Amino acid sequence: MRIQPVLFRDEAPEVSSFRDEVLRGLSVRPRRIAPKFFYDRRGSELFEAICRLPEYYLARVETGILGTRAREIAELAGAGCLLIELGSGASRKVRLLLDAMRPEAYLAVDLSREFLLEATRRLAQDYPWLEVHAACADLCRPLTPSFLPRGRRRIGFYPGSSIGNFEPREARVFLDSLRRLLGPDGALLIGVDLKKDAAVLHAAYNDAAGVTAAFNLNLLARMRRELRAGVEIASFAHHAFYNDSAGRIEMHLVSRRMQCLRVDGVCFQFAAGEGIHTENSYKYTVGEFHALAEAAGWAVERTWTDPAAMFSVHFLRAAA
Ligand code: AVI
Repeated sequence: MRIQPVLFRDEAPEVSSFRDEVLRGLSVRPRRIAPKFFYDRRGSELFEAICRLPEYYLARVETGILGTRAREIAELAGAGCLLIELGSGASRKVRLLLDAMRPEAYLAVDLSREFLLEATRRLAQDYPWLEVHAACADLCRPLTPSFLPRGRRRIGFYPGSSIGNFEPREARVFLDSLRRLLGPDGALLIGVDLKKDAAVLHAAYNDAAGVTAAFNLNLLARMRRELRAGVEIASFAHHAFYNDSAGRIEMHLVSRRMQCLRVDGVCFQFAAGEGIHTENSYKYTVGEFHALAEAAGWAVERTWTDPAAMFSVHFLRAAA
């Protein structure tokens, strides 16, 4: 069978948006940089490495659920759809679904351009019967239907609990915009990490091998590479903890000493112990997530969890 080329669309923001957001984020208190900037090429590779860590149960448990439920998911989704993966990364989890689901076409959407292209090319080679599309786009910006191939029923796939990286109010807005994008006969398969013992969560974001620390610190390395920022990486430390009252893991980069971080000729003064907030990762109970999805106009059709109730996967349909 002839391998079809990947149909590519580039809607990625320019480097200047990274510069603008860094300058803005370092000027406010508390200082913050959005987690979407983790995912340059190196950051995407480090995230893949995180997904293989023994402590980072999220990827392993979700993969188990998708693998065992692939048939049921395929029945709910129906054949011949356009399967759209949001934040597709290495497009690894979708492989668990393709043979059972037999979609007509697959569209991978991710912000990490090279990584996206390599992943979708590999996928097109391994699934020569599948029409493969790739769109480099920022999911935090309003999603426009213009980059969607037309004329097929749309099923969204949003694994990995990336929904947890939005503030709950933003998550509702995002789920609502996804519902509009996927259309009145659309559905969404989404993975959501569950609330659990804080020690398990703490270990997942403070792995012994230091990969999560490298992932967090890569943000500074990216600022050096792309913005020529004046900052010594080793002068900051990775700090991640579970904030119980907010129901989220927080990640910060904390300055080890008093220093000046320089971007575009501007000196951002840090006291020792002062940080940059780089990520929130919200955890939900099944009931909390159902309420969120319903507030965004979705009806929950099925929910699966693993036996230890570590992680959940939901099949949602646009509510009538
Ligand atoms: C992509 N996202 C769901 C991950 C998470 O768990 O919030 C990113 C991550 N941050 C640290 N480790 C993994």
